[in-house]
Amino acid sequence: MAISIVPRPAHVTHYGGRYDETLCPLTYRADPSLPAEGYRITLRADGGEAAYADDGGRFYAAQTLRQLRAPDGTYPCVCIEDAPRYPYRAFMVDSARHMQSVAQLKTLIEAAALLKFNRFHWHLTDDQGWRMESQSFPRLNEISAWRACDGFLNDDGVRYGGCYTREEIRDIVAFCAERQITVIPEIDMPGHMVALLAAYPDLSCTGRVTAVSTHAGIHKDVLCVGKDATFQMMTRLLDEVCDLFPGEWVHIGGDEVPPQRWQNCEDCRARMRRLGVTDPAALHSDFINRIAAYLKAKGRRAVTWNDTLKGGDLDRDVVVCNWMDKTGRCIDRANSGGLVIEEDFFHYYLDYPYGMTPLRKTYGFDPMRAGLTEIGRANVIGVETPIWTEFVRDFKQLCFMCFPRMLAVAERGWTPPQLLNGKDFAARARALLPLLQTIGITAAPPKTWDPRALGRWKGLAQHYCRVLRVAHENRGVEEA
Ligand code: ACM
Ligand code: ZN
Repeated sequence: MAISIVPRPAHVTHYGGRYDETLCPLTYRADPSLPAEGYRITLRADGGEAAYADDGGRFYAAQTLRQLRAPDGTYPCVCIEDAPRYPYRAFMVDSARHMQSVAQLKTLIEAAALLKFNRFHWHLTDDQGWRMESQSFPRLNEISAWRACDGFLNDDGVRYGGCYTREEIRDIVAFCAERQITVIPEIDMPGHMVALLAAYPDLSCTGRVTAVSTHAGIHKDVLCVGKDATFQMMTRLLDEVCDLFPGEWVHIGGDEVPPQRWQNCEDCRARMRRLGVTDPAALHSDFINRIAAYLKAKGRRAVTWNDTLKGGDLDRDVVVCNWMDKTGRCIDRANSGGLVIEEDFFHYYLDYPYGMTPLRKTYGFDPMRAGLTEIGRANVIGVETPIWTEFVRDFKQLCFMCFPRMLAVAERGWTPPQLLNGKDFAARARALLPLLQTIGITAAPPKTWDPRALGRWKGLAQHYCRVLRVAHENRGVEEA
């Protein structure tokens, strides 16, 4: 009988019969000959063993056993030899637009660990809120963390916000570490900074940012990168980040930076003259490269969104998340030696409805894009799926959007491509729902996963999805 595990293991041999752990306890044994994060579970009627390559492998053997265990405490007799396809398997949570409680984040992390994700990219700052408690800059906690109302489409007039305390952040980092998950914090700069600028308007080009944003979209006000004070504050903040987050990688954003303010700012123009450039994209690269160099000197590595490739000379060591690249820059980047993470908007953005991004579409996305050379393929280190929360207000809705699509990304990140099969996957995803429920995750019901049978509403639904997509792609810069 086939076993039901997500992500699907690389090799399974069936022996027949049942293994009962209470009769002969399972033993764990290190086996350095196994591939990184790999394990081999051997279960026979007369005994069980889990061999593992490293701490990750040991943990993943236990997660597989958790899924394999029948309600009566027995297991099928099998040999499972397993290791991940990609070393980088991440989920991202936007805690800036809407926050999740520490308990809710832990529930999500627990489910992600069960699915063998090994990175949690935590989007902590944005135009609409600052969520990392700061020791050096208390106005971030007092002003930037709060907006006048929940906002977006809901002007309820009730102040919304808060930030995670340093103890809470350390608690999350430790909780993740126990589950072989490294946290990658994101402080998004130099765009998506309106919340910070509301407390420190001197760091904007105009000096006139007055409020934390309450609406979605791309904001014209960004950090003034012509001022030394901006670099000084960002580096002091990154000192705090490095103090709280022990992982090597730090995400510094770099997405969606409109050039207008820089073009009209004396300080930014002066910096462009000193650099001998006329294109604001080059000013953007210069800022990101300076921040990346600062992190490098501290033994850290910068990660950015692919928008930072526009300037043309992004430091070789900066890792790039490919969320929306219409020009093939990420392919060139990987082919020429830069590390790339695949996070495709049309397949992996889980804040979009199932009508636009059905489960089968997420499952079918191949991160190995056409045009990658052999070197390029080796530099695509894995996959990441974000849940942005402008319109995802509570945890129930977040779980509905993430599950089961997170399972699809987990399987793409782990399972050898020749074993991927959408129908078989959907059946295993269904079988996992009760275990997810015991963790505290209520997934979207199966009838919503692949809304192909919308009957006469199909045309209308497709039209709606096209409008949504075009609206997102052309997300205009605000007029202010
Ligand atoms: C992004 O969605 N702006 C990375
Ligand atoms: Zn400026």
